Amino acid sequence: MTTAPAPSAPAALRGHIVTFRGNPFLMPPQDALVDEPDGLVIIAGGRITHAGAYDATIAHLPPGTTVTDYRGCLISAGFVDTHVHYPQLPMIAAYGEQLLEWLERYTFPTESRFGDEAYATTIARKFLGELLRCGTTTAAVYCTVHPQSVDAFFGESTRLGTLMVAGKVLMDRNAPDYLRDTAQSGYDDSRRLIERWHGRNRQHYAVTPRFAPTSTPEQLELAAALLKGDDTLFMQTHLAENRAEVAWVTELFPDSRSYLDVYDRAGLVRPRSVMGHGIHIDEHDMCRCHESGCALAHCPTSNLFLGSGAFRLFDAMDARRPVRTGLGTDVGGGTSLSHLQTMNEAYKIAQMTGKRLHPVQAFWLATQGGAQALHLDDRIGTVAAGMDADLCILDPNATPLQALRAQMCDSTADVLFTLMMLGDDRSIRATWVGGRLAHDRDSGGTTGM
Ligand code: GUN
Ligand code: ZN
Repeated sequence: MTTAPAPSAPAALRGHIVTFRGNPFLMPPQDALVDEPDGLVIIAGGRITHAGAYDATIAHLPPGTTVTDYRGCLISAGFVDTHVHYPQLPMIAAYGEQLLEWLERYTFPTESRFGDEAYATTIARKFLGELLRCGTTTAAVYCTVHPQSVDAFFGESTRLGTLMVAGKVLMDRNAPDYLRDTAQSGYDDSRRLIERWHGRNRQHYAVTPRFAPTSTPEQLELAAALLKGDDTLFMQTHLAENRAEVAWVTELFPDSRSYLDVYDRAGLVRPRSVMGHGIHIDEHDMCRCHESGCALAHCPTSNLFLGSGAFRLFDAMDARRPVRTGLGTDVGGGTSLSHLQTMNEAYKIAQMTGKRLHPVQAFWLATQGGAQALHLDDRIGTVAAGMDADLCILDPNATPLQALRAQMCDSTADVLFTLMMLGDDRSIRATWVGGRLAHDRDSGGTTGM
């Protein structure tokens, strides 16, 4: 089995620290922002030991520690992608269909190859390399129905030392023969994978019924049985993404009050459950998400690309019953692994629904909000002492156009806004994982790739 990297050496990064002290949907965005224009982050044993103003923090630098100079760039927590499919990387940008036809025509044939562990390892390696190039250090990831696809993914993540959440897709009906498990084989395979990977190094297991139409009620119940007695396990699935899909679920589960209720009756609506999309849900379902602690993953590039609809982000974040919400790229339904691009499209969807997504809110969703959605905010999502040293370094001057626009910026919020509207993987100067440099744009790539 792949081994994790050796403990990282002490390190320190100097630059403009941007992080959060609260939820900017529930307080004025400027009050939620921690903004340290000349900051220092000191790292030891894979964790942040100190973070603050350079002048006040330099006294804590252990003798002999090299300070990497990122002045001119922002130091942010690494991005958290709360919903993505690694096996769909090769079929990103597949033309012409909406969800159900897109699954049949492109997705299922592409996923059929992941019974081959060598192929799965190749794609997992490329996928993780791309995530790091985009500044994303944690993701909730769907593998395929094949247990080998999970071994390949966690093996590569272990090698890189990334904190990942992932699981085997469960699918015992309404899918091609070559991609179906059974309720029992899905349970048995998942149990073995949980024993092999969950809590090992930085890997976390998510029980992963693909969505209600491809699981029998028996499979959903066995998925809940896998979770029983272990609050640290995750659950991920899709919820109310597309109108034709919702109509199909109504036909398949006539006794359920709503799509969410299908999962709720099975015992799958709980803390550390992450529902992809949740576009076509009602107030009752929003309240149920709020009280249960389950999360929604807002996937704007996918929702636009597949023509699924407009997620009501500000409804989800309603202060009377806020729902844990993060950003998801949903590649291959999504068109980019970059959370900067994802924020860009989230801003435009909010505009279409008459709302204004403040850049501080967008960056919070991409970092601390995503970490809260996964109930991992005690480890990741914030630049502060005690947190894991998973960081991304953002360059507001990455291209000539961005450098031109940056001259107009008169606030940190505006710098963040230009990054989210104009930025992409070129804006990621570097990515640090567990206190180790994992991607360095200017020295040509991702270490260990
Ligand atoms: N619903 C069920 N499976 C999928 C998938 O792979 N991608 C998206 N976007 N929605 C789904
Ligand atoms: Zn998805």
